[in-house]
Amino acid sequence: MRRRQQDDCDLLVIGGGVAGFYAALCAATESDVVVLTKGPIRTTATYLAQGGVAAAVGADDKPALHAEDTISAGRGLSRPSAVSALASEAAARVADLVDLGVEFDPGLGLEGGHSRARVVHAGGAATGRQIAHALAERVVDHPRISVREGERALALWSTGSRCVGVTTDSGAITARATLLATGGAAALWQRTTNPLGAVGDGIAMAYRAGAGVADLEFVQFHPTALPGSGVLLSEALRGAGAVLLDDSGHRFTDELAPRDVVAREIGARGTALLDLRPVDRDRFPSVIGSLEDAGFDPAVEPVPVSPAAHYTMGGVVTDLDGRTELPGLYAAGECACTGVHGANRLASNSLLECLVFGRRAALASVAEPELPVRLGTPPVAAPAEKVTSAVRRSLW
Ligand code: FAD
Ligand code: SIN
Repeated sequence: MRRRQQDDCDLLVIGGGVAGFYAALCAATESDVVVLTKGPIRTTATYLAQGGVAAAVGADDKPALHAEDTISAGRGLSRPSAVSALASEAAARVADLVDLGVEFDPGLGLEGGHSRARVVHAGGAATGRQIAHALAERVVDHPRISVREGERALALWSTGSRCVGVTTDSGAITARATLLATGGAAALWQRTTNPLGAVGDGIAMAYRAGAGVADLEFVQFHPTALPGSGVLLSEALRGAGAVLLDDSGHRFTDELAPRDVVAREIGARGTALLDLRPVDRDRFPSVIGSLEDAGFDPAVEPVPVSPAAHYTMGGVVTDLDGRTELPGLYAAGECACTGVHGANRLASNSLLECLVFGRRAALASVAEPELPVRLGTPPVAAPAEKVTSAVRRSLW
């Protein structure tokens, strides 16, 4: 246990993935921001993101078509106002990333459930890594942002009517606004593409503090993970021509159907093979490198794939500006439930959601009133390890 301390700031961001870092940058023009991350950037889902960011930037595309595909993948359960914000602000958020130093590859990727190619990507399928590095560099250099890496939030500090900060494993922090950007919970499953820390800390903290949560029954399984490892074989590979084969070497599904459809088709067969020989593999150096490290040669033979828990559609209920049901508490990114994804997220809509709603939450947080003079004492929280280690990777 480190020294106990109590600090204060305007905006406290819990999480250093794309949602947290981008929100911190958006707020820091007006606010003093503290960012807590329980792990380094390579342990975020953001860092692992492969396919890219969906945005209607192609000549044959428009936000209304992106919105239509989003609602259709979500099985009609998406919230139309949130989808409209997502699709119409996408191009501006991609332009922000370019301004922040992300170098996207030429051309747009095609992924499952999209009616046209609309996924911007970097380093082939190293999009998350490039975004994470670009944002981290800006955040660390920013004079109004302080990053506390390795500090873990344990419980939200609520007066009963308002969130005023958090208790961490190092002490307490008070803030006019607190933004949860803690990511999802798919690492609770035995087979998962997610980093170990994605166990739903923020969702649990919000629930315990009285904020509403929703849609937690909707968990997305990515169809093509390498069995026995967390290695993801991006949907972008199928968009670039990879085909799925059964044990007898026959195709059995539309490789570019929404991923719940493809995951069920593979799940029904237990496992399947992904044939990467038709793909220009030089475009995907990071994925091919991971396969080679695992002992496969995709130039010679198809590789085995099976579904793995990948994404948490539900989370802390928010309005379109990231406000939760507890005043002073905001949520953005995978831990939030904006309603955009309905029952099933459209490929590459998550990084986009983090950007669009992370920014909206950051801008709204600036208007939070000063804290009351007397706050009482911060909550005492038990270390979370006991709970999460008991359930982690136990679901299937
Ligand atoms: P994360 O990036 O997971 O960051 C969460 C942060 O919260 C971390 O810094 C963590 O340390 C911190 N944290 C958590 N709990 C605490 C706590 N108690 N105290 C302090 N800090 C805490 N989506 C796309 O749109 N396109 C893709 O191509 C894509 N590919 C993917 C590939 C893989 C392998 C995976 C796993 C996901 C992919 N996704 C993709 C989904 C997308 O990457 C995530 O949904 C998104 O990055 C989540 O960002 P986030 O900022 O909400 O959370
Ligand atoms: C992938 O590259 O297949 C993952 C994309 C996503 O999760 O949106």
